[in-house]
Amino acid sequence: MRCERIEFNKFRNMESTAVDFSDGINVLWGKNAQGKSNILEGIYYFARGKSFRGAKDREMIRFGEPYSKISASCRRDGAKRASSLEIIFSADSKEKKKVYRNGARVSGMAELIGDFRAVLFCPSHLSLADGAPKIRRTFLDIAISQLSREYMDCISGYNRALLQRNAALKAASSGEYSIPRGLFEIYAEQMATFGARAASYRYDYMSMLEGEMKESFSRMTRGAEVPSLFYTTHAAPPAGEDDAGEADEEFEASGKDEIESSGETELGRTNFDSSHLYRRLTENTEREIRAGVTLWGIHKDDIRIKLNSKDARLFASQGQKRSIALSMKLAEGSLSQKISGESPVVLLDDVLSELDSERRSFVLGSFSDRQIIVTSCEPNLFENLRGSVRLIEVENGRVSEVSRKAQNLGENILL
Ligand SMILES: Nc1ncnc2c1ncn2[C@@H]1O[C@H](COP(=O)(O)OP(=O)(O)OP(=O)(O)O)[C@@H](O)[C@H]1O
Ligand SMILES: [Mg+2]
Repeated sequence: MRCERIEFNKFRNMESTAVDFSDGINVLWGKNAQGKSNILEGIYYFARGKSFRGAKDREMIRFGEPYSKISASCRRDGAKRASSLEIIFSADSKEKKKVYRNGARVSGMAELIGDFRAVLFCPSHLSLADGAPKIRRTFLDIAISQLSREYMDCISGYNRALLQRNAALKAASSGEYSIPRGLFEIYAEQMATFGARAASYRYDYMSMLEGEMKESFSRMTRGAEVPSLFYTTHAAPPAGEDDAGEADEEFEASGKDEIESSGETELGRTNFDSSHLYRRLTENTEREIRAGVTLWGIHKDDIRIKLNSKDARLFASQGQKRSIALSMKLAEGSLSQKISGESPVVLLDDVLSELDSERRSFVLGSFSDRQIIVTSCEPNLFENLRGSVRLIEVENGRVSEVSRKAQNLGENILL
């Protein structure tokens, strides 16, 4: 997969800016607050369908403008022609965004799954091993959604039902309205159906991820340590007795919820029985009414990471946690390629300057056969790299090409 060109119109701090990318490494270089991450945000939008910085669509429109447009030219591996993808956002919240492929309007971003694939690394990913559970759930959601439309649909169906159930629980807890108990069961059924299916995907993905991660971790550290992953969820039957009643708002994975990876090598093959999650969602409704929020479900999922069988969050050093996080992202990249047959574009936002030189070379070396687009304030980080490097300066939302080092020539072509 390659992103050959992206054009921005009234997007963030860009009035009208086009950026051309080469195969190999592309460096977006510039001082702080010039628009480097804005460019990556636009590119990644085509892969994820939303901003990686948590911004609403409207917030990405240039201040004071009614519309914003981003157009990308993306080429799949081996394809003769690039496809052109385009999104138009409106500042009017009543107007839906318009999405186009090769000039023809499609129903939404979900239709573009697979047209463009990317793996993003940013500094927040460095806390994947010891950050809050949400960071690992988001990691799973983004990675699996790019590989499966069914997963994406299950997650949105689940979240819809969860929102409605939470609103009903809140209303019941305040005593303002009388909510028929049957309503909670209806929401619980929807959440259990979507949730069990999504959890099955998460479980398969995590099992496959573990295999890839072991490999990249041992290459990176040249050490004897072995990382392992355990899926903690309310959606799978616990190994022993049921532990319902142990859940609390700050979900701490209990041993009974934790399942070892299955060694599964195909995404979507596992099928958790939804009755288990349904039971958990219906047997403690009174407690949930008191809390005013849903206490069980896959919105509490987590991945517990161990290094040589010891909990990494509690026992790993800062450097080991960083290596775990990096190996997880590298594994995401190789799994994306294995499952989809397409090499994802690698987007690195500000992350290289956070790494020591050994890890930096390892990351760039691991992706040497892919297109890499990286932001940096320090162009000299890339001076000694072999292969093709294109240096693009970003200044106040505009770009200019500074230099290009051609593949195998080993010399700089100054433009
Ligand atoms: N909707 C918007 N309209 C206009 N300008 C915006 C909008 N949103 C953000 N900006 C501007 O974009 C700039 C930030 O751009 P960006 O985050 O891409 O910087 P950066 O080059 O990545 O900087 P750093 O090196 O600090 O990460 C800021 O000056 C900000 O005010
Ligand atoms: Mg930035």
